[in-house]
Order: sequence, then C-alpha cells, then structure tokens
Amino acid sequence: MLNKTERYKSILTGLESLVDPKVDTVANMANVSAVLHNELKHHWTGFYRVVEDKLILGPFQGPVACTQIAYGKGVCGKAWDTKKTQVVADVHQFSSHIACSPASNSEIVIPCIKNNKVYAVLDIDSTKFDSFDETDAKYLSLIVDLL
Ligand code: SME
Repeated sequence: MLNKTERYKSILTGLESLVDPKVDTVANMANVSAVLHNELKHHWTGFYRVVEDKLILGPFQGPVACTQIAYGKGVCGKAWDTKKTQVVADVHQFSSHIACSPASNSEIVIPCIKNNKVYAVLDIDSTKFDSFDETDAKYLSLIVDLL
C-alpha cells in the first residue's frame, strides 16, 4: 500500500499529463477536482474562483456548497487574504469557518496564485479531524501550480 507521499507523487504525475495549460482554467480545475476527489476520497474537493470582490463556487466534487464567500471570510477567504495555505485541524475552533456541510471537521485551503495575485483557492474538507498536514500542503501546492 502506498504511503501519502507516494500517493501524491503518483497523482501529480497523472495530473502533469492531464492538465493542459492551453485550455480554459475552469476545464482544468474540473479535472483536478475529479482526480483529487476520487483518489483522496475526502468529503468535498473543489475550487472557488476570485470574481471581482468575492470567491465564487467553481468546479467541485461532493455535496452542494455555498456559492459565494466574501474577502477574508472563512478558511477560504483567509487563504485569499493571506496568500498562505490554511491547514485547519478542527474547523469548529476556527472562528469564521463557514459550515457549508455539517459533516466537515477539518479542512485545507491552498491559494492559486499567478503574477502574485490569488485567482482561486483549492478547498478540501474532511469528515475526520486533523486530516491534513505538511505533506498535503506541499503536494496540493505543486498540483495547483499546474493550472
Ligand atoms: N468551509 C469553507 C467554505 C467552503 S466549504 O467548505 C465547501 C470556509 O470556511 O471558507
């Protein structure tokens, strides 16, 4: 059985072939969310895109989710605001957490950055507490860099 690093290396290799920077970013986000959701099997996997002054729901896999997030709000808004990956072991302890699903207990959000500007975030929610660590942060950052 593969450990987490080996699993991410294999996912990254597959996505390097699948993601085509010449096609629309939303199409690539759709495939990235499908691959990550099917491989990692967390509760919710998807993107929010920066549209004007808000984050707007983008391609995702999993249950229906909030369609808009204001700048700086929630874990997603904090990743946008700080330009830093947010690893939240227990979302119930994160003061401005936006509970799109009551089943979520931990979360990771990676900012997608081009020309020093955040244009989207990748959000993954888990029903388990403390699901994400530095390995997830490292490989998910490499994955969003493919977009
Ligand atoms: N929990 C997120 C909102 C998005 S959903 O989890 C899909 C947040 O606090 O920003």
